[in-house]
Amino acid sequence: MKPTRAPQTYRVKSFGCQMNVYDGERMGELLAEQGITPAAEGEEADLVILNTCHIREKAAEKVYSDIGRLVAAGKEKGKAPLIAVAGCVAQAEGEEIMARAPAVSIVVGPQAYHRLPAMIAEATRGRRATDTDMPAIAKFDALPARAKRGPSAFLTVQEGCDKFCTYCVVPYTRGAEISRPFNDLIAEAHRLVEQGAKEITLLGQNVNAWSGEDDKGRRVGLGGLIRRLAVIDGLERIRYTTSHPKDMDDDLIAAHGEVEKLMPYLHLPVQSGNDRVLKAMNRQHSAESYLKIIEKVRAARPDIALSGDFIVGFPGESEAEFADTLKLVDEVRYAACFSFKFSPRPGTPAATMEGQVAADVMDDRLQRLQARIAAHQLAFNEASLGKTCTVLVERRGRHPGQWLGKSPWLQSVHFTGDHAIGDLVEVELAAAGPNSLSGRVRTAVAV
Ligand code: 5AD
Ligand code: SF4
Repeated sequence: MKPTRAPQTYRVKSFGCQMNVYDGERMGELLAEQGITPAAEGEEADLVILNTCHIREKAAEKVYSDIGRLVAAGKEKGKAPLIAVAGCVAQAEGEEIMARAPAVSIVVGPQAYHRLPAMIAEATRGRRATDTDMPAIAKFDALPARAKRGPSAFLTVQEGCDKFCTYCVVPYTRGAEISRPFNDLIAEAHRLVEQGAKEITLLGQNVNAWSGEDDKGRRVGLGGLIRRLAVIDGLERIRYTTSHPKDMDDDLIAAHGEVEKLMPYLHLPVQSGNDRVLKAMNRQHSAESYLKIIEKVRAARPDIALSGDFIVGFPGESEAEFADTLKLVDEVRYAACFSFKFSPRPGTPAATMEGQVAADVMDDRLQRLQARIAAHQLAFNEASLGKTCTVLVERRGRHPGQWLGKSPWLQSVHFTGDHAIGDLVEVELAAAGPNSLSGRVRTAVAV
């Protein structure tokens, strides 16, 4: 590699989960500290970071085709960008990327990106740099203060996973479960609110496995952290994602009934409604124990919107076992869901299990599951009609005078009027579709 000029502008392309979105923002803040600014819309950046996801499908292939596209565009313009591959594909396949893609200058894993400035300096000297170490807390300590963003902000409180579901790469790419310290989180939340955040979504691969010591030295779980965050003036809404049923403790459930700022929404993946499949997935819960949690959560917060993740076509899944998933969907009546075809991930136990399900069978099951989920989603939205709720204004809509925001139940709501991003407005929900609602503004809420 030849030495190059130090980059002035960057672009981060994040794939996959919200954690990657958060990491992408943090990398941007780190680069800003070095005087590297975001490339203007439509302009080529000097540094492109592909912040990758490894959870499903041919993620690595997508990365190689993105790299190919960047190289071709660079040749055309006579100016190739520095290319960095970050995220979970970098963690899982860093060495192969370096071997296969000479255009890549930097490979940086999700726990090492605080070292980006040093790696960029290496790369500009013509030396390729790789770091896939996993000292996660060191990363947070090395990051700069939060920059100004929109009214809804992410805050990573926990990373990694010790659950080892047999289909999942996360325990390998993100490492063991770690919780960021209580005081660091309170400080970062204050900073976000000072920068204009009205809503904070707490992030973690197993966010409800978070635990720490509060400012009085007591051991607390996520419920305790939420209760403390709720006293921050100016913070109006708290959400969290993604949870594991095993870590859904009573205090967190009680917080749903007690903490007004905690929004009535819970994303609690179940993956399957069949106990044999759940066992083969190593989920550590049964359909019944999952439903029991849902019952408790609903008792604490009757209007709660529930969402889940599902995998169809896990190895060995029979038609009858799949039917149990449909049954569970009907029992829970989810407000929203994410559903996927099983994707064999290299290195995970499920990838080599007997009874891999044929693609056409998976397609058919996914279609049926998604139709069922869509019906429940529409029913949930229709049941909201006539309610007046607070909507956080997040952005302008497509039509003049139109605004878009989220209801407490995380529904997208559009409405018109004289508002500003970050306003909280009282909206009467007037019409419902499967993916959004429209409403009439009642009054603006003073905050
Ligand atoms: N195949 C299909 N879906 C998967 N997920 C995780 N790993 C796989 C896989 N190998 C899904 C799960 C998880 C969500 C984030 O992605 O439903 O909850
Ligand atoms: Fe993956 Fe299971 Fe951990 Fe979720 S709980 S990140 S699905 S191993």
